[in-house]
Amino acid sequence: MDLTDRPRRLRTDGVRPLVSETRLDAADLIAPVFIDATADERIPIDSMPGHERVPVAEAAERVREIRETGVAAVMVFGIPDGKDAEGTRAWADDGVVQRAVRRIVDRTDAYVITDVCLCEYTDHGHCGLLEEHAEESPELMIRNDATLELLERTAVSHAEAGADMVAPSGMIDGMVGALRGALDEAGYSRVPIMSYAAKYQSSFYGPFRDAADGAPAFGDRRHYQMDPSNRREALREARLDAEEGADVLMVKPALPYLDVVADLRREFDYPIAAYNVSGEYAMLHAAAEKGWLALEEVAYESLVSIKRAGADLILTYFAEDIADQL
Ligand code: PBG
Repeated sequence: MDLTDRPRRLRTDGVRPLVSETRLDAADLIAPVFIDATADERIPIDSMPGHERVPVAEAAERVREIRETGVAAVMVFGIPDGKDAEGTRAWADDGVVQRAVRRIVDRTDAYVITDVCLCEYTDHGHCGLLEEHAEESPELMIRNDATLELLERTAVSHAEAGADMVAPSGMIDGMVGALRGALDEAGYSRVPIMSYAAKYQSSFYGPFRDAADGAPAFGDRRHYQMDPSNRREALREARLDAEEGADVLMVKPALPYLDVVADLRREFDYPIAAYNVSGEYAMLHAAAEKGWLALEEVAYESLVSIKRAGADLILTYFAEDIADQL
């Protein structure tokens, strides 16, 4: 045999780590946490095994558990004590995220990121203010520009509570520029914005909507979140957010959209984040429960693949388990 090129030479146990192109590190991971203003004890989330809605009083303790695994950053989601048409509990000084963030910042050294959106706070479950006849004409449904001011108040209130970074997830046009302006004006020019820049209208968010109680009461989000068919449009969204002052650009979901992660990595010199969403987590758990997949292995492979595609940071419900393994 005169085979000269033998890639298998580099696959011995001794050399594999030396030539490994991608490495996962606990420092790349962000762990989502759910804080529930209506709970007085932890409530397991059925569709997301291992995750719970945690009462405000236990917010810091929950984050300390995460810190112990080596994960340094958390993304805080809130389940409020009340909902209304405008989502006023989203920017209340005694709102669930504001109270939780104060406790976490006081009692831990975690890096605290907050999700800035209205869908968990509005009684209709959409991510902004609705037009009067929203149910009959869903295309015009959200009052884009009027929503911006509510998002500004929300982001500033998170920064006041001590959030290190804010992450607008509503796919409202102009949201990054609006937040940047409001944060700067309020004296928070040091607080970075991680934009959910290319957020697709995805059915993989299903378990999250149970967890955070944020399913739309009617219709869906296809008139503001991106069409899964579109790849080039993600570049346009990311470019706008970068121009408006985003510091980190996120793609969401992750695994079904790795082409988009790779595109953003190539086109932008910003940190790229990917959100390995609730459905991506739930489906591996469900298959593992049936004995069809080896959970630790598929979780690790998922996250390595997301990094290999070009993500610098990964938001994932596997954060603690994987960090423990590493
Ligand atoms: C909106 C928001 C959602 C998720 C994160 N932020 C839900 C949505 O857009 O419907 C989904 C996260 C996941 O599925 O893990 N506040």
